[in-house]
Amino acid sequence: MHKEHLQQFITSEELSNISKETLAAKETLISCTGKGNDFLGWIDLPKTLSPEIVSSIKKDVEVLTPKSKLFVVVGIGGSYLGARAVIEALQSEFASMEESDHPHVIYAGHTLSEDYYHQLLQMLDSHDYAVAVISKSGTTTEPAVAFRIIKAHLEHKYGKANAAERIIAITDARRGALHDIAQQEGYQTYVIPDNVGGRFSVLTPVGLLPIAMAGYDIDKLLKGACDMRDICINNNTLEDNPALMYAAIRNLLYRKGRKVELLENFVPNLKYISEWWKQLYGESEGKEGKGILPHSLSFTTDLHSMGQYVQEGERLMFETVLSVAQPHNRVEIPMDAQNLDGINYLVGKSLTEINHNAELGTILAHVDGGVPVLRIEVPTVDEYVLGQLIYFFEFACGVSGYMLGVNPFDQPGVEAYKKNMFRLLGKPGYEK
Ligand code: PA5
Repeated sequence: MHKEHLQQFITSEELSNISKETLAAKETLISCTGKGNDFLGWIDLPKTLSPEIVSSIKKDVEVLTPKSKLFVVVGIGGSYLGARAVIEALQSEFASMEESDHPHVIYAGHTLSEDYYHQLLQMLDSHDYAVAVISKSGTTTEPAVAFRIIKAHLEHKYGKANAAERIIAITDARRGALHDIAQQEGYQTYVIPDNVGGRFSVLTPVGLLPIAMAGYDIDKLLKGACDMRDICINNNTLEDNPALMYAAIRNLLYRKGRKVELLENFVPNLKYISEWWKQLYGESEGKEGKGILPHSLSFTTDLHSMGQYVQEGERLMFETVLSVAQPHNRVEIPMDAQNLDGINYLVGKSLTEINHNAELGTILAHVDGGVPVLRIEVPTVDEYVLGQLIYFFEFACGVSGYMLGVNPFDQPGVEAYKKNMFRLLGKPGYEK
């Protein structure tokens, strides 16, 4: 965590003053004495997840991979964003056009767009596929609608019995329509623990199954999370505990009127890490008329759209730059004898060298423009680092939510639109 670009916005005295409160919030979290303490199963998950579950996931991958070109993940919010964040961070931007030994993971249940499902079904007509249907409550409308459509397609394509062998349900142990369907149809099933909320569930089968199906190493992901858990639990100073430092800084800035946090990357494969992070922080903190608004930008792309606003618009934001030190590959700028584009001064430099200078140039410009910038640097993007990052953001979110004074583990506001939609659609029981 690099905070040198915060110096003109936060004093070391302010940081030291808030450290006691940050530690108290951490204590509340790990002693399970705060609001929402029945949803803290994620804290020990990387250590306590049973090896049988991991083995069973690997077995499913072995069985389904040879017979599936596509793997459809049906879920919304916390039931798909974590998996998508990790898969898209690790896979090629052009994965859908490449041959692979693993199924290509695609998504459903996160939208009600009719054209989306029409296009999806056309794809599914011509490729072999399997499905994970994921819903903690087992009653969410979007994945229920999508699954009904896909289940009918799958049964038509392979016959009912064979279709059932291509479906895995991940849901509550006892309740919900999805639980009942899975029981009746005899699907392979995984349980989302009662004490793990949707947006904290990526290290359960909710995230692990799709990630493993896409060919990535879930042991390394869990190891990264486990090691970060030790750092977050065992260290009691802001300097030694990045999650405490992040929670402290964002609350200090919020109290100084910085109501918007922009999570920014300079590599497009982290876009869905930002989407996952937005749900994590938006649902955890946005309540009771409070909370930092989490927003995200992908640079340098968005420097040519939102860059103007960040530089000179309302001073209501701070930035958290998610910086990647090392790419996996090197691409150099080639020599051009004519130099008509005038960029021969870059010859021999790698794109990362240029990108890192774009990043530093951007940070310096935004700080000059009056925006505090925090930088989180990861060495590279792999399963281990993503496991660390996921746990870091989750732990910091719990601490930060307690510092804000809210229950970071509920989401009562998500229900409001559903009631209106049910009434408008004539769902029995919602007439008034
Ligand atoms: O974080 C949450 O709990 C929610 O955003 C859920 O993930 C989302 O609403 C999907 O719910 P479910 O998994 O019950 O279908």
